[in-house]
Amino acid sequence: MQAIHLKQPGGLDKLTLADIAAPAEPGPGEIRVRLHASSLNFHDYAVAAGMIPTEENRIPMSDGAGIVEAVGEGVSDFAVGDAVVSTFFPGWLEGPARVADFRTTPGDGVEGYAREQVVAPVTSFTHQPDGYSHAESATLTTAGLTAWRALVVDGGIKAGDTVLVLGTGGVSIFALQFAQMMGARVIATSSSDEKLERLKELGAEHVINYKTTPEWGKAVLELTNGEGVDHVVEVGGPGTLPQSIDAVKIGGHIALIGILTGRQGEVPTIKLMAKQATLKGLIVGSRRDQIEMIRAINANGLKPIIDREFPLTEIADAFRHQESGKHFGKICLTF
Ligand SMILES: NC(=O)c1ccc[n+]([C@@H]2O[C@H](COP(=O)([O-])OP(=O)(O)OC[C@H]3O[C@@H](n4cnc5c(N)ncnc54)[C@H](OP(=O)(O)O)[C@@H]3O)[C@@H](O)[C@H]2O)c1
Repeated sequence: MQAIHLKQPGGLDKLTLADIAAPAEPGPGEIRVRLHASSLNFHDYAVAAGMIPTEENRIPMSDGAGIVEAVGEGVSDFAVGDAVVSTFFPGWLEGPARVADFRTTPGDGVEGYAREQVVAPVTSFTHQPDGYSHAESATLTTAGLTAWRALVVDGGIKAGDTVLVLGTGGVSIFALQFAQMMGARVIATSSSDEKLERLKELGAEHVINYKTTPEWGKAVLELTNGEGVDHVVEVGGPGTLPQSIDAVKIGGHIALIGILTGRQGEVPTIKLMAKQATLKGLIVGSRRDQIEMIRAINANGLKPIIDREFPLTEIADAFRHQESGKHFGKICLTF
């Protein structure tokens, strides 16, 4: 079968198409899945580009969606023909966070889903939402679940809340959509005026260009009559956190998710303390969280925003498109 290998030290020109042995029959508690799609996340880019070192010939990509081809002994959750989508942490089934690294994450610590078939424990997958394509389903594993956890699981979002989302990448667009699904108002930022128009079309109540308005935290305060927002979906990291602290309401919640501006930096702790806000780090979520997110999607009919799909063989071009920052929402691979 075909798979993508990443040669070390990484780099988009180190992604190569390989012919590898097809997996064996599934053992007890396992399923064999014919994969049809994946989606690109910043984390996958960081692995592919060599920012996160991994093993020689690692198969990249954390997200995978496809059809169950065979089930092993004792498997009752899935039947042959079921449409399934992968989980980010196959070993974290439910309850509080149990992992603080990427050692068990497909496409990083273990082999990922840039391949045609996989045999894996049932806990590595859940059912897809009703009526979703494989590409749409593949957007949920990382980006969808991260946004869901930030707002619903950790944030306890309520109808009427105000949510600030930063930029127009995969996590942020999902956060906008989940916020609306939960009855919240959305303020959104982008570096592009064209993308700001698209954010408005998607239902953002206010939009701010973070390049031309570097003090966008203050702009958010003005837009909320000096109150601030209930939730910030913080994908920027050190370069954006000070503004996010300005933008959050007293007693509000900042979900600390991303590293788009770097991995460490100065935080105005006094402001955070005075705001009595919660700053909570998170990495994606549990399998139970994914099942509950999909239940909510089925009840509400939410569909992900896919910017563009590339065939698996054009994975490097897909990452170059992500690198260009031209995308709005998700980029997918289909195979
Ligand atoms: N902790 C977790 O569980 C978790 C899960 C998923 C992702 N993440 C992290 O979250 C971040 C976003 O991931 P993603 O996959 O959604 O990325 P992505 O799809 O590649 O999104 C990138 C977008 O971010 C925006 N952006 C870049 N710099 C920005 C800045 N200084 N301020 C505001 N927006 C900025 C840009 O939007 P515009 O073009 O509109 O300006 C850009 O298009 C990454 O750091 C990733 O590692 C963390």
